[in-house]
Amino acid sequence: MTNRKIYGGLMSGTSLDGVDGLLLSFTGDHQLQVLARSSLPFPDELRDRLLNLAQSENISFTHLADAEQALTRHYALCWQELEKQAPGIRPEALGCHGQTLEHRPAIGYSLQLLDPSLLAELTGCNIVCDFRRRDLAAGGQGAPLVPAFHRGFLSSAKEDQIIVNLGGIANLTWLPCNPAQESLGFDTGPANLLLDAWCCKHRGTKQDENGHWARSGQANQKLLDQLLKEAYFSAPYPKSTGREMFNLAWLERQLEENDAQNLNAADIQATLVELTAASLCQAIQQLDPQQKARVLICGGGSKNTYLMERITGLARPRSVATTESAGLPPQDVEAAAFAWLAQQHLLNKPGNLPSATGAQGPRVLGGFYPA
Ligand SMILES: Nc1ncnc2c1ncn2[C@@H]1O[C@H](COP(=O)(O)OP(=O)(O)O)[C@@H](O)[C@H]1O
Ligand SMILES: [Mg+2]
Repeated sequence: MTNRKIYGGLMSGTSLDGVDGLLLSFTGDHQLQVLARSSLPFPDELRDRLLNLAQSENISFTHLADAEQALTRHYALCWQELEKQAPGIRPEALGCHGQTLEHRPAIGYSLQLLDPSLLAELTGCNIVCDFRRRDLAAGGQGAPLVPAFHRGFLSSAKEDQIIVNLGGIANLTWLPCNPAQESLGFDTGPANLLLDAWCCKHRGTKQDENGHWARSGQANQKLLDQLLKEAYFSAPYPKSTGREMFNLAWLERQLEENDAQNLNAADIQATLVELTAASLCQAIQQLDPQQKARVLICGGGSKNTYLMERITGLARPRSVATTESAGLPPQDVEAAAFAWLAQQHLLNKPGNLPSATGAQGPRVLGGFYPA
């Protein structure tokens, strides 16, 4: 027996760090209760395979199929962790993001790898997935998809808020306290994706723990100014981006063009933190010129204390905190959003926010694969 209000969300983002899972109960229209959470890092071998596929020009269908099955099995393991914490609970459905290998909204295409039939077989759960393509078909970016959830669950009637998700890419949602005003959202630029890539290249670790290494460096203003000239940052929204644009090759090209290859590696890491914070805060300033909004941060980047300090510095005089202060732990937000998107699908309700994605209108997102 499934429970009408219990849903799961399984999310793996552009950081390629692993799958985050959440089992929750929607206790009201705008309220939820977390029943179980799990976070399952990708084994190195799977991460490397996915990264190669995301960066490769020539892909074999056999490699694609192998990676899809391995990824789907990893999603199933993440679900099993949730199941252990909440034995006997059957969710109505699992909302699953899949792994983005290609995001090209300009040609109406975005590919999230996952085999929902295999996942239904392995978990015994209804699966809802492939959330982005209907929005793309309706002329939208297919991203970001979290703003509608942010509006439903994190809005405040007292103050304007900006929700920031620091994943591989950073995206924000503008939530005016006046419900008559429109909410907005877009990707502001790179976040953990470049920080992880540069750190891995020079330190051999997957992430710069708490931004410790970046803190030891000194941001290079000249390089930062050049990086901020990238056309994406000043392009009008709606807009979304991904690994196709911001990746290690992009950074190395920039270093070469700006004669910056010989800068100290820690200084470059510090400059990348500054790039993340500055591009984000430029977007914040554009939406909130009166500097009154409260900024709430979620995603793995919220654990990078140095990045958080730099955002706090550049967003001043606005207050900056994590979404925890609005009742949702920062690592839960995206998986909760995909659980909610699954519920929207089952209720035949729209999941996109056209003002964020640029779609012609609200659309019911995703496809359903029965248990
Ligand atoms: N303690 C930490 N210090 C620095 N960075 C961290 C820390 N914890 C998580 N991160 C960053 O967060 C990323 C994962 O964030 P996540 O929200 O899962 O992004 P995505 O949605 O793109 O997968 C990691 O790759 C890492 O860069
Ligand atoms: Mg992740």
